[in-house]
Amino acid sequence: MRNNLVSIALATAATLCLPFGVNAARPCGGADGGSFQYRLGDVRYDGPDPSKNNDLATIAASLQSNTQTPLYECVGQWPEAWAGWYQGGSNLIWADCIWTGAGTGQDDTVSFAVDWENKTMYLAHTFACSDQEGSQGLATGSITLDVNCTTTDESSYCVPKSTESGTRPNLNIATVLVPGSETTEPTCAETSKEYQSWKVEQWQRSFTMEPGASPTDPNLSSDTGPSFTLKSSANGNTFNCSPSEAEDGSFVGSCTSDATTTTADFHFDPLLNMLEISEHWACDGSPPLDVVGVGYVQAACERVFNSDEFVCTSAPVWIGTGVV
Ligand SMILES: *[C@@H]1O[C@H](CO)[C@@H](O)[C@H](O)[C@H]1NC(C)=O
Ligand SMILES: *[C@@H]1O[C@H](CO)[C@@H](O)[C@H](O)[C@H]1NC(C)=O
Ligand SMILES: *[C@@H]1O[C@H](CO)[C@@H](O)[C@H](O)[C@H]1NC(C)=O
Repeated sequence: MRNNLVSIALATAATLCLPFGVNAARPCGGADGGSFQYRLGDVRYDGPDPSKNNDLATIAASLQSNTQTPLYECVGQWPEAWAGWYQGGSNLIWADCIWTGAGTGQDDTVSFAVDWENKTMYLAHTFACSDQEGSQGLATGSITLDVNCTTTDESSYCVPKSTESGTRPNLNIATVLVPGSETTEPTCAETSKEYQSWKVEQWQRSFTMEPGASPTDPNLSSDTGPSFTLKSSANGNTFNCSPSEAEDGSFVGSCTSDATTTTADFHFDPLLNMLEISEHWACDGSPPLDVVGVGYVQAACERVFNSDEFVCTSAPVWIGTGVV
């Protein structure tokens, strides 16, 4: 089933020629505004696959509408020992939930993160406010899962515990609007106190894959590393990011911008698909502040016709900072 969910997500990524986030709008204010709900469909955690020898744990979840149509497929992967935290530290790893194309996608982006120590799943989604033209809302929520884990010689996996009558439990994630997320242009000192997040857009990376290599065990050469734009949700600053050097098989780069209040740089590990973003604040009259966010960027890569070259792109991905 793990492979099933992963391949569904990947297949969906490949069909993203559909207009992403069409109809993306939700009320941000008013009586019913600012609170939302997603239903969890299949949820499954898989420990490392011994045959792959890579020590990666995979978490997959589907988000449904209240009519149980699967709307988004969420997949994240990290070294098991990290338990959902970048290098086992204090930054949650955010991953994209990919729109299946079913139903009306009301969000521009949906991302999730999992604290596997505490079995807590976090969800964050962004959308246009239907009642405030031109503004974007961010809503966040979490759920703690009660899981049933099975370990055999070959593998280990966990799924939510069944109910007493043996059926799948009813799991919902309620999210609420992050106050102030829909307002624009607060002052530098104020925004440095807000919840920090970004949108990674126009992701572009290309590499050449050696003949005989497989996508699950790639032998890559001439990897360009990623180029992308980074939009801060807290201050609206937009950065253009591309790698300036390679470091131990990873890519590091600084991002350019017209913005004067912050600077940004990044680190990308192409083996783990981990993107680490840092934004540095320098507001008049406030102490300097460094904000870090980490995303597992599961871009879709397509072979260029009659070539060894692959080109990877992604729909916009929301990357948050700490717990939401
Ligand atoms: C996770 O659980 C630990 C121990 O139970 C607790 O100290 C910690 O605050 C929890 N973390 C979060 C983010 O809830
Ligand atoms: C836990 O998993 C085992 C093995 O799949 C299953 O037999 C059992 O019913 C599950 N228990 C619950 C409470 O989900
Ligand atoms: C990957 O490709 C390089 C260069 O062609 C080759 O030397 C190396 O043995 C290959 N590695 C694997 C694991 O196939």
